Amino acid sequence: MDGTDADAIRRAMAAPGALGRGELARLLSLRTAEDRAALRAAALEVRRRHTGNAVFLRGLVEIGNSCGKDCLYCGLRRSNAAVHRYAIPEADAIRMAKWSCDSGYGSVVFQSGEIQSEGNTDRIERIVRAVRADCGPDFAIVLSLGEQSRETYARWREAGADRYLLRIESSNPELYRSLHPVDHSWERRRDCLAALRELGYQLGTGVMTGLPGQTAEDLAGDVMFFREIGADMIGSGPFVPNPETPLAGAPFDPKEALETALDFVACVRLHLHDCNIAATTALQVLAPDGRERALLSGANVMMPNATDAEYRRDYQLYKGKPCLDETSGQCRACLEARVMRIGDRIAWRQPGTSPHYLARRAVGL
Ligand code: 5AD
Ligand code: SF4
Ligand code: FES
Repeated sequence: MDGTDADAIRRAMAAPGALGRGELARLLSLRTAEDRAALRAAALEVRRRHTGNAVFLRGLVEIGNSCGKDCLYCGLRRSNAAVHRYAIPEADAIRMAKWSCDSGYGSVVFQSGEIQSEGNTDRIERIVRAVRADCGPDFAIVLSLGEQSRETYARWREAGADRYLLRIESSNPELYRSLHPVDHSWERRRDCLAALRELGYQLGTGVMTGLPGQTAEDLAGDVMFFREIGADMIGSGPFVPNPETPLAGAPFDPKEALETALDFVACVRLHLHDCNIAATTALQVLAPDGRERALLSGANVMMPNATDAEYRRDYQLYKGKPCLDETSGQCRACLEARVMRIGDRIAWRQPGTSPHYLARRAVGL
């Protein structure tokens, strides 16, 4: 690595927001194993400064797979007739969240395709209320249910939801447009993120890395975007072409996809410092130890699947999703072993509130 990049890494470690877009793009273009290891080691050091060796767990409940959207990359898109659609009955969804809480996870994430209907809004509201009542005030309830009206977000927040995850997918509106049909709007998604923040949610967003047509400058722009909107949590993962989608034949090199995704995690940590970063499941598609490697590149959150095994096969955004036949209990034991193997420890029963959120709330932001 030349002196310029080494200096950029030093400045990034010293303070958040220290790098410009050009510098981030250079760090996202490192190509030797040695340079990439140096970038990730620096990010790990910043992570450990903020959250030590604690890894926070969120139980993931894939509550339904119907979706009104048609994102070109996603297996759940409405045009994919090959998917058997399901919606988990309310009582079962509540049970899976309760299991997460009883198993020592600090939070639960309810995720589904995007459904905008009064019936769905009511259903989620009831589920959130029940989980809040069952699991107490310290258990964090996270929603990842797509774009909704401000009123819907407000009702779910009122019912007891603490956090919301909504990926921007790409901060570049042109690239976003190339991956979505014309009735999908980048601007609307950005406005949803602003509404969520105003409503007091802990705000999570993210992108896919390695998208067709995406450049290092785009990825650098994504990192800057996360800081600009004041994101508290980041969940990003590699794009993995799904054979049941229009992007089935997109250029894809699994080895480079993994390395890019890890460098991206490192740059997010180096630029944002105190946010939560998820080691996402898609990383494990590319390598058995993909998620651990993300922890070692600056991530501090894992999302073990807490959905009953019978539903998992029907929730495939991409092919090769791990844990299809495992039970939630097996995933719990598996992840604990993985975390310990790399010298971290699981922060059992802790909600893992984003330090960035705590800091901004302390000053009334
Ligand atoms: N590869 C990787 N990630 C995908 N997602 C959807 N399809 C794919 C794919 N083929 C991601 C999107 C979405 C999240 C729920 O899953 O980023 O926001
Ligand atoms: Fe629906 Fe989300 Fe898939 Fe888009 S990425 S089709 S919104 S589930
Ligand atoms: Fe599910 Fe390893 S995390 S089996």
